[in-house]
Order: sequence, then C-alpha cells, then structure tokens
Amino acid sequence: MAATAGLAGREQECAVLDQMLADARAGTSSVLVVQGPPGVGKSALLEYAADHADPLRVLRATGIEAESGLPFAGLHQLLRPALGLLDRLPAGQAAALRGALGLAGPAGDRFLIGVGLLSLLGEAAEPEGLLGLIDDAQWLDAESADALLFATRRLQSEGIVLLLAARDAGTRTLAAPGLPHLSLPGLPAAAAAALLADVGPRLAPAAADALIALTGGNPLALLELPRALTERQRAGRDPLPDPLPVSDRVQDAFLGDVSRLPDGAQMILLVAAAEPTADLSLVLLAAEGLGAAATLLDDAERAGLVQVAGPAIQFRHPLIRSAVYRSATYSRRRAAHLALADAVGADQPDRRAWHRAAITDGPDPELAADLEHSAGRAAQRGGHAAAAAALHRAADLTPDPAARARRLTAAADQAWQAGRFGQARAITDQAEALGPTPDTAAEITYLRGCVELHTGHAATAAAQMRAAVSAAAEHAPSRALHMLPGAMHAIGAAGDFGQMADLLAVAERLPGPGPGPDVLDMVRGLTLLHRGDLDAGYTRLKSFLVRTEQSDDPEQLASAAGAALYLGDEATAGTSGLGPRPGPGRPVPWEYCR
Ligand SMILES: Nc1ncnc2c1ncn2[C@@H]1O[C@H](COP(=O)(O)OP(=O)(O)OP(=O)(O)O)[C@@H](O)[C@H]1O
Ligand SMILES: [Mg+2]
Repeated sequence: MAATAGLAGREQECAVLDQMLADARAGTSSVLVVQGPPGVGKSALLEYAADHADPLRVLRATGIEAESGLPFAGLHQLLRPALGLLDRLPAGQAAALRGALGLAGPAGDRFLIGVGLLSLLGEAAEPEGLLGLIDDAQWLDAESADALLFATRRLQSEGIVLLLAARDAGTRTLAAPGLPHLSLPGLPAAAAAALLADVGPRLAPAAADALIALTGGNPLALLELPRALTERQRAGRDPLPDPLPVSDRVQDAFLGDVSRLPDGAQMILLVAAAEPTADLSLVLLAAEGLGAAATLLDDAERAGLVQVAGPAIQFRHPLIRSAVYRSATYSRRRAAHLALADAVGADQPDRRAWHRAAITDGPDPELAADLEHSAGRAAQRGGHAAAAAALHRAADLTPDPAARARRLTAAADQAWQAGRFGQARAITDQAEALGPTPDTAAEITYLRGCVELHTGHAATAAAQMRAAVSAAAEHAPSRALHMLPGAMHAIGAAGDFGQMADLLAVAERLPGPGPGPDVLDMVRGLTLLHRGDLDAGYTRLKSFLVRTEQSDDPEQLASAAGAALYLGDEATAGTSGLGPRPGPGRPVPWEYCR
C-alpha cells in the first residue's frame, strides 16, 4: 500500500490515527486500543499508522498464541531494537527490565519493570518520537500486558503513540480498562462493494449485496469468500447458502476457542448455528434432546461467541455462526437438524420441513410435497424468495424428471416474483434440460418472456410470451388465460400491435373464462384500436375498466391498470395498482401500475 493512501471505508479511523501521529510529532503522547472481530482490519489500520509514522521511530510486537504463557515474551519482541538504550536508565529500572527480559539476573519487581518500560520507551522516543504497535494483543502474555498497560497509563509528553490491536470475541481478550478504545465495525456498504469489485472473481450485484450483508462487511471474508461460492452463486443464479461457506482462514479466525469448549457447549453452538431464527428456547430444547444441558450455554457465552438477550440467542458475529456450522462433521450437523425438526413440533410444518430437507440427500417425494406446501404458504405471505428456495429444494428431492421440472418452473416463477431475474432464468434452464411436459414447457417459455421483458428486449419478450400463450392454449387452456395480460403488456411494450390481433385469434379459441369481467375484452379492445377502430376500441376498453377497477382479484386489477393507461387515465391506473399483490404462480405485469 502506498504510504499516502488511505484505507477504503476507514476515513474516520485514519483521521484519528493521523491526529495521534501529529500530536506525537508535537511532543504529546497518546494510546489507543483498536478492537474488533477477526479480519475486520485491525492489523491493516496499524499498518496505516506505520506507513504514516515518519519521522517517528517504530517498534512492533505481535501477540503469539503459543507464547502467551511465556512471561515477557511480548515485551521482548517490542523492545529488542531498543535494548541498547537500557544503559541510559536508572540502575534499578534497568536491572528489573533486564531480569524480566531474561538478559541478566532474576526478574525484578513488577513496579520497577513498569517504570523501566516507561523510561525505555521515553528514551526510544528521542529525538523524533515513537510509534509502538502491538498487534494481536489478545495473545500477549499477561506479564507483558500488565507492564504495557502500566506504562501507557502514565504517558505524557514523550511524543509516543501506542496502538494496541485486539480481537473482541473469544476467551482471550485484552482487559484494558480506562484506556481509549476504538471499536472497528465492518466496512460501510459502498467500501465493501468497492473491495469486492476490485479483487477476486466477479460477483453479480445481487450476490455482492447478499455477501456484504451476510459477512457484516468483514474485509477478510469479502476477500476470501467469493472463492468459496459456486459459479452459479457468484453469478446470482443461485441464492447464497445460509450459513455461508467459509474459507479455512475465515474458519480458523472465527472458530477461535470453540474447540476448547466442552462437547455439550459445542453442540449447543452447532444447534444454534443450524437454526436460522435465533429462538433460544427451541435451541435449548433441541440441544437437550442431544444430551447437552442448557447450563453449558454459559461456557459459550463466557467465550464471547454468543449473546443471550431475552428469548434470542445471537452469534457475536455472523461468521462465527458460519464457522461453527461449516466446521462440524456431517453426522453432527445431521443430528442438530434432526433434533431441531423434532423440537419445532408439528404445529410449525414449514420449519420442520426445512430442517429435514437440510440433511436429506436422496429423493424423498413426501418431504418434497411438504416443502411445496411450505412454499405455497410462504408465497401467500409475500415471501417469494423463501418460496423459490423451498420449491428448488423440493425439486432436488423429487425423483420423477417431469415433476422435478414442474417444481423447478414454479421455483423460477417465485424467483421472478421476488425480483431475482438471474436466478429465475437459471432455474428455467435447469427445468428445460429435464424434458418438461408440454404445459410446463409453455410455462417456462412464458417465464422467460417475463424475465426478458424486465432485463432484455421487449420484442423478444413479446414473441416468447405469445408463443407461450399459443402452447398453453393447446395444453393448459386455463393457464393461457392467465398469461394473456403479460403477453398483452409485452406486445404493447414492444409497440408491435400487429401481434395483438394474433394473440386475440389464439385467445378467442380458448374456452370461456366463466362469469365476470373477461381479460379477453381488453385484448379485443386493443386489437380494435390497432385496426383503427378507435371508438369501438375505446368503448370496449372503457367498459372493461369500469367492470374491473373495483375488483379484488390482483390479476384483474393489474389488467384494469393497464387498460386505464391505454385510455390515458393515469390516475385510475395508479389507484388500480394499489390492490393486493399477485398470488402464487401468477406472474402479473405489475409495472402497469407504476
Ligand atoms: N479497509 C480495507 N480495505 C481493503 N482491505 C482491507 C481493509 N481492511 C482490511 N483489509 C484486508 O482484509 C484482510 C484482513 O484484515 P486484517 O488482517 O487487518 O484484519 P484483523 O482485524 O487484523 O484480523 P485478525 O483479528 O485476524 O488479526 C487483510 O487482507 C487486509 O489487507
Ligand atoms: Mg490482525
């Protein structure tokens, strides 16, 4: 990194360090403890200070986990380049420090060591000032940490900056009460997006947004995790898995001390990681079913890995959850999901089906049907992305290729309604490759038209949707009726009203739609307009609008809004669009209403 460059997204933090360095050049000392989760950029910030320290002298030490039991190992690292200055210290302080650092004699009195350290740092700060960087301070040996904290509390006008960086989760933390702290959060969204764009494999915008949200903007994870995703996930064609997959480095960093916890506490953590809702009583019930007593949760809490607040159990960082889940063996993950499936009970069939699905590999028609029902409920609530995921999983578990294609097509429909166009397109490709039945094939063509209309060319979309209506008219007439408004809209958007007459010809052959206002009337009206019969076209459209604008059927409302737009009545078009959202499996051209 160039010496003048700032750190992306860390402008405020860099300004704090710049000020501390400027103060040191003017003779004022200061100290700061930079805290944050693994990989958040603490070392990077210390490096920024080192790059900008000139003309201050720089001394460094890094806490090393394996040396955390060796008294004064950290201090030895820090002071090594300055040991030649020991002779300038009063004899008692120099002897105490020499003893502590194993240079001569026994370790001296703790007070004299602390004072000696303060004096030595003062000497090292002559004549230009001093920057002391202590990284990974959570692993400093206790004696070094005590001496350093003693000295930092007494800094005054030596021109010294001391920066300590420490992780804030895990059993080992740096207790530094009374010292100024800087808590480092994840990168702001714009800086995180820029980092993703600058390095590593390309990510589709939706995948990048999801990754930033799921990692809390953690730079280490942003740098490493795109490679842990599949190509389809990176392209936004599949949603990101939850919990996220993690690289070895991210896993090691966030797992921290988990492996040192009692087995039962590890099991509680795994159950919590496997359950997306943070429901504490559910997690404890499931863990108890696996023989892990609730009291063991205390160990996990004390280790700083989870927080319990009211009815919720939360991981201190979303990547701890990923690391816990991904580091567990398959059989333990399976046990956790099965225990959760038992614990949620029959009154929550959706969550139960999810946990069973998470550990089912082979075909399972019964579970696939449960997931399809679950998707229906999710879609009714407007949870189209969840419905798409449930249907996709249902398709995975469906043995018959034609039935799998049908469920995939329904998943694509939900993905489209959720605004996940790339994903919808990818799922239709999967469905088509399975050799779908003619009615499913018509549905696939229609969905492709819907996606094309939003992301590509209206003319292509119009041709696809008209073809879909023709195919559906033959194999699934009732579906053809539902496709009419979309096809009409695409033809209108393409400005190719000649196709409207063709659409009408197909639509006229469809069996009657039953009582009530008929969307066919709208096609008739538009065809009349196209033929130049303006009065008849206007009258037809107007009567369609009057009959449908009060409807509570979302499809008819959308068509009413479209008719109002063709009539130049934008106010009515707007109010018609305020109706309910489309139901499941009913892509409707809502852009009429916008
Ligand atoms: N603001 C940033 N812009 C771009 N990259 C960054 C930024 N901050 C950190 N990084 C990069 O992210 C990675 C992790 O950062 P860093 O090593 O500083 O984290 P850390 O907080 O020290 O983690 P640990 O607790 O594991 O020591 C490094 O590769 C670093 O270069
Ligand atoms: Mg670090």
